[in-house]
Amino acid sequence: MIFSSKVAICLVGATTFATTSAANSSFNMKPFKISLTNQVARMKALVTNTHLPAQPLYPNAGFEKGIELDFLRELQSEWMTGFDWESQEAELNQFDHYTAEIEGQTVHFIHEISTEPDAIPLILLHGWPGSFQEFAPVIKPLTQPWTNPSGKSISYNVVVPSLPGFVFSSAPPANWTIDDTARIFNTLMTDVLGYSTYTLHGTDWGSAVGYSLYSFYSLTVRAAHFVFLPFLPPSGQELASNNITLPAQQNVTEQRYINFSTSGMGYFKEQTNKPNDIGLALHDNPVGQLAWMGSHWKTSSDPRAGTLPSVLNNTAILTSVSLYYLTRSFLSSVWIYAENPNGFNTNFSKASTDAPMLFSQFEYNIVFWPEEWVAQVGNLVSYKFHDFGGHFAGLDNPPALIEDIREMGLYFI
Ligand SMILES: *[C@@H]1O[C@H](CO)[C@@H](O)[C@H](O)[C@H]1NC(C)=O
Ligand SMILES: *[C@@H]1O[C@H](CO)[C@@H](O)[C@H](O)[C@H]1NC(C)=O
Ligand SMILES: *[C@@H]1O[C@H](CO)[C@@H](O)[C@H](O)[C@H]1NC(C)=O
Ligand SMILES: *[C@@H]1O[C@H](CO)[C@@H](O)[C@H](O)[C@H]1NC(C)=O
Ligand SMILES: *[C@@H]1O[C@H](CO)[C@@H](O)[C@H](O)[C@H]1NC(C)=O
Ligand SMILES: *[C@@H]1O[C@H](CO)[C@@H](O)[C@H](O)[C@H]1NC(C)=O
Ligand SMILES: *[C@@H]1O[C@H](CO)[C@@H](O)[C@H](O)[C@H]1NC(C)=O
Repeated sequence: MIFSSKVAICLVGATTFATTSAANSSFNMKPFKISLTNQVARMKALVTNTHLPAQPLYPNAGFEKGIELDFLRELQSEWMTGFDWESQEAELNQFDHYTAEIEGQTVHFIHEISTEPDAIPLILLHGWPGSFQEFAPVIKPLTQPWTNPSGKSISYNVVVPSLPGFVFSSAPPANWTIDDTARIFNTLMTDVLGYSTYTLHGTDWGSAVGYSLYSFYSLTVRAAHFVFLPFLPPSGQELASNNITLPAQQNVTEQRYINFSTSGMGYFKEQTNKPNDIGLALHDNPVGQLAWMGSHWKTSSDPRAGTLPSVLNNTAILTSVSLYYLTRSFLSSVWIYAENPNGFNTNFSKASTDAPMLFSQFEYNIVFWPEEWVAQVGNLVSYKFHDFGGHFAGLDNPPALIEDIREMGLYFI
């Protein structure tokens, strides 16, 4: 194996990694701290000076027609008064952040190291409108050892990069694709951090990056867990013609998918076709970004979001939107749609890897893939269904996501 010389770094370096600079100095890897407090006054002034209508124009329109005014006003008011960016920033700064230069891109990432010498390397891949913050509740627990009933102990060294163009990672050239992101993230794990093999978890666009890694880096990616896939799910008609009847809860997810695909993808088309229109319209408009992205946070998550085990409450939404606004990365983030117009592959074919693949379907996600479809694209060893949580599992049901990622460790080869 061509990376065998790096194994030594992983094994002996587990405890010293955080203090030594980098496995490879040619990437200019540097510690990084979030420091955006000096821009918060301006953000709050803009939030305060945004005058929303006093009453909804059509009070019964519901979230089906986009974000509800009452919800937007509630968040705006919390942003002006209760929301404390400084404490959110301090909380996110409890993680070890770094930047590295890879192929001319500045890549921001968290690297949290386990105290366990045999911890498994793991990369967590976020999507839109999320960020590395989607995974905040699961990062530290995954570094802790967990022992399964048969006595095997699993822990992780956790890496959470920001996608190119998102928050602290630089905006890539306009022709940059998901496969380019996969390539530089593989470089991050191997050449920058010195891991010879690793595991991954992907959601939303992160699942497209993760699937590219799973397909094309079979020597280094040795297990993968997904909650979303870059493949077009079957329509209700396709399920019927394959004689598939779903249990009631899975059918809830399927109905949510039918709703999403028929009336929830306007943003998708806009960001694919005219990213500059929406990107520039909202560039300096925090409440506008909140309306555009808050709509997704609300309708793509569990209706019980914000009640345990979900920690996806208003504070989490405002922190996420603040990260986009304060880093001025909304415009570059939506370009991912324009650069990758075929995000949902219609050609279900198996990745050429023997690495195990695990899949977890959350009931209140907005897309549903039956097991038969998931099994077509990889070496599926586990398919699970959770009746709590939605599109942002790291916030909407962190215990379930932690459990499923730990299960992946049992399959790591
Ligand atoms: C550092 O990474 C570069 C680019 O991948 C590679 O050419 C070089 O051999 C690496 N050096 C070490 C010491 O690993
Ligand atoms: C993509 O764009 C960059 C910068 O504009 C350019 O250097 C590169 O050759 C382009 N790549 C491809 C594959 O067209
Ligand atoms: C579905 O069921 C019908 C009637 O039982 C049968 O004719 C058809 O071949 C089945 N289709 C599939 C894809 O199994
Ligand atoms: C889902 O439920 C609807 C309404 O009860 C039913 O018409 C449909 O056949 C179900 N779909 C599947 C795939 O089970
Ligand atoms: C789908 O949308 C319809 C009407 O827009 C709504 O009544 C229904 O509750 C939605 N289904 C789910 C599962 O969210
Ligand atoms: C949201 O949850 C966090 C804990 O996860 C808590 O500190 C915060 O106060 C909550 N925010 C709201 C608005 O309830
Ligand atoms: C489907 O994908 C496989 C593997 O990536 C490829 O070999 C094949 O040509 C593709 N088929 C079509 C119709 O695109």
